[in-house]
Amino acid sequence: MSRLDSFIRRLEAQRACINRAVSLVAALPGPVIEVGLGNGRTFDHLRDRTGNREIFAFDRQVAAHPACVPDEAHLLLGDFRAMLAKAAASLGGKVALCHADIGSGDEAASQALGAEIAPLIDALMAPGGIVVGDQPMRAARWEELPLPAGIEPGRYFIWRVRI
Ligand SMILES: C[S@@+](CC[C@H](N)C(=O)[O-])C[C@H]1O[C@@H](n2cnc3c(N)ncnc32)[C@H](O)[C@@H]1O
Repeated sequence: MSRLDSFIRRLEAQRACINRAVSLVAALPGPVIEVGLGNGRTFDHLRDRTGNREIFAFDRQVAAHPACVPDEAHLLLGDFRAMLAKAAASLGGKVALCHADIGSGDEAASQALGAEIAPLIDALMAPGGIVVGDQPMRAARWEELPLPAGIEPGRYFIWRVRI
């Protein structure tokens, strides 16, 4: 498969999984967290699909399109590990939907980062919440859900936080 095909499939998987996750939390109140603001593409998509929900975005820096930069109160800048831990004071147990898009191209490093931040994300999640992401992650409360039709296993992941 060409790199172009692989890139397009990754984005299709990302969009399909985010859309599925948004529909799964339709009846669950609570904010959204975007772990990996990047250039703001998926933040913008979440904003478009989730209506009035608050969205808190995490990244070590702002590199997003100017139209896709959250206001100061919703932008948590710094290393994920520090900022997710810090967010527990205000968001602990409340988040309905987490999208974690943290991959860097170094597969081993990305997976190691996913393993490190999974418990920190878990601490923010409301019972019944949904975590969707680009890395395999684990937490005792998380149950892996099937992917939307046509998405190759391992390209993206969806978990439900057990109640
Ligand atoms: C794949 S990009 C996110 C792309 C974004 N979701 C979008 O659609 O534009 C991953 C982001 O994670 C951030 N990142 C990676 N490791 C990080 C860490 N340890 N702490 C904070 N940010 C980190 C990078 O700066 C990068 O912007």
